[in-house]
Amino acid sequence: MGFLPINPRSLTVRLISLGAILLCMLALFAYSSQSSYTFRFRDFSTFSQRRRSSCPPNAWDSGQWVYKPHTNLTSMTKKEDALEFAGLDGCASDREFFWHLASDVKEQWGRWPKVASYVWKPADNCDVRPLDGSAMIKDMVEQGGWLLLGDSITEGHFFSISCILYPHVRATPNYTENPYFDRAWPQNLYLNPSSPLISTLSLPPNFSIEHTPLVTFRRVDLLLNKTELVDLHKELYNPPDTFELFSDERFWSLSPKEYMPIFLTPLPEANYGTLIASTGGHWTTTLLNGYRDDSKKNSGYGIEGVLEFFNHAMKKWATDVQEALDAHQSNRNNAGHKTSRRVVVRAYLPGHEDCHNILEPWTHWHKPKWDWYNWSWIKDFNKNFQRVLSAPAYPDIFYLPIDTPALLRPDAHASGDCLHIMTGAGVMEGWSHYIWHFVSRELAGRIR
Ligand SMILES: *[C@@H]1O[C@H](CO)[C@@H](O)[C@H](O)[C@H]1NC(C)=O
Ligand SMILES: *[C@@H]1O[C@H](CO)[C@@H](O)[C@H](O)[C@H]1NC(C)=O
Ligand SMILES: *[C@@H]1O[C@H](CO)[C@@H](O)[C@H](O)[C@H]1NC(C)=O
Ligand SMILES: *[C@@H]1O[C@H](CO)[C@@H](O)[C@H](O)[C@H]1NC(C)=O
Ligand SMILES: *[C@@H]1O[C@H](CO)[C@@H](O)[C@H](O)[C@H]1NC(C)=O
Repeated sequence: MGFLPINPRSLTVRLISLGAILLCMLALFAYSSQSSYTFRFRDFSTFSQRRRSSCPPNAWDSGQWVYKPHTNLTSMTKKEDALEFAGLDGCASDREFFWHLASDVKEQWGRWPKVASYVWKPADNCDVRPLDGSAMIKDMVEQGGWLLLGDSITEGHFFSISCILYPHVRATPNYTENPYFDRAWPQNLYLNPSSPLISTLSLPPNFSIEHTPLVTFRRVDLLLNKTELVDLHKELYNPPDTFELFSDERFWSLSPKEYMPIFLTPLPEANYGTLIASTGGHWTTTLLNGYRDDSKKNSGYGIEGVLEFFNHAMKKWATDVQEALDAHQSNRNNAGHKTSRRVVVRAYLPGHEDCHNILEPWTHWHKPKWDWYNWSWIKDFNKNFQRVLSAPAYPDIFYLPIDTPALLRPDAHASGDCLHIMTGAGVMEGWSHYIWHFVSRELAGRIR
């Protein structure tokens, strides 16, 4: 025990410090038993006694895919059938519609009905709210909407949400009218003014059906912008002036200084309650080319350096995000408002090698054979991000290690690659389902 410089011969000092330690433990115990809302993922065990349904992230994450078709349809005869197979009525977003549903390539239609016929069955100690688009909308209106930040995988998540909430939402932009889109464009879901749900909702004061988004996606590959990362790298490593951290590979990113104000914007422009972030896939030695080391051909080309830098960057990110939340919170406290805004980080995912030749979910993870795109490193990025966020300094940022369902679905990828995930196979719908449960049940009643 190295925390007190005690002279081992001084019994008095030892007794006094023992007493102090016992007092501290007692105080901690009293504190933790009284404040049941100050939890983080590591002490979810305290929720087993909650009356309402409860499912800690690890109980959701440990489960299996079980066969349960949504329809009696037996074969795909048109792209649109993907919706019926998935048990969906439609999707509000119209961007790359059949690419997202993965039914854009006729040669792969044989994947249905199987690919859309499995549902995730979490562990027995998971008592999760049933997925229900209408109930989600009610929570998004009354408790705050979702701001999604991430790369193209998260964009897929946005599309999937636009299907879960269909037909009660409308999506912008309309890509039929604006086909020359830019990836930096925000994508939004708003209440559909003709939805019958509206009469059942308690709209907050100043909520605008037309202008207040329920869900927004912003393309943010690295969670910090280029300037911030270059500056952080300089501060940490003091590289020579000729050093270039980034290659000219394209990426999209924003600073927390840009998106935290968006997240915290008051009604009527915004009403977000949950920020959902995910990053991993763009932290490569091709984008962060300064780390590339061709002599390490068999061990990731210098990716360890990227990983170490990622730790520092995510620490900075969490600090900046928590600071923005704290500043906002103290303003609101002064104005007599309560709030419950929170940030969740969804574990990132590698793809699956040779995915189009695998036609069933797995029951256990198979180690990759070839390490396509250095995907084997993603788990280290996740582990490190989780470790950073487990610090008590970030009480409103929650890491959700809920990647197992996706890891067990090599069959559920887009038609053209083995990284992107199709809407309708249950994978991304499961992210929405669990995140919704987590913020509306596991974090319910949490007020700072
Ligand atoms: C399949 O058809 C049977 C018999 O018509 C019906 O009872 C069942 O609900 C159908 N299943 C689905 C998933 O639609
Ligand atoms: C997008 O615009 C097209 C053309 O004006 C229109 O037909 C379509 O209904 C719009 N889509 C949505 C989802 O509003
Ligand atoms: C509603 O919006 C107006 C103008 O934007 C603002 O002055 C007012 O304080 C808002 N009221 C509430 C309850 O947020
Ligand atoms: C990154 O964000 C900072 C802070 O808002 C800003 O000063 C800087 O110009 C941004 N850099 C880029 C490349 O957008
Ligand atoms: C691993 O990443 C490096 C740098 O991005 C790349 O050159 C290499 O091809 C990747 N390895 C594999 C097996 O994809």
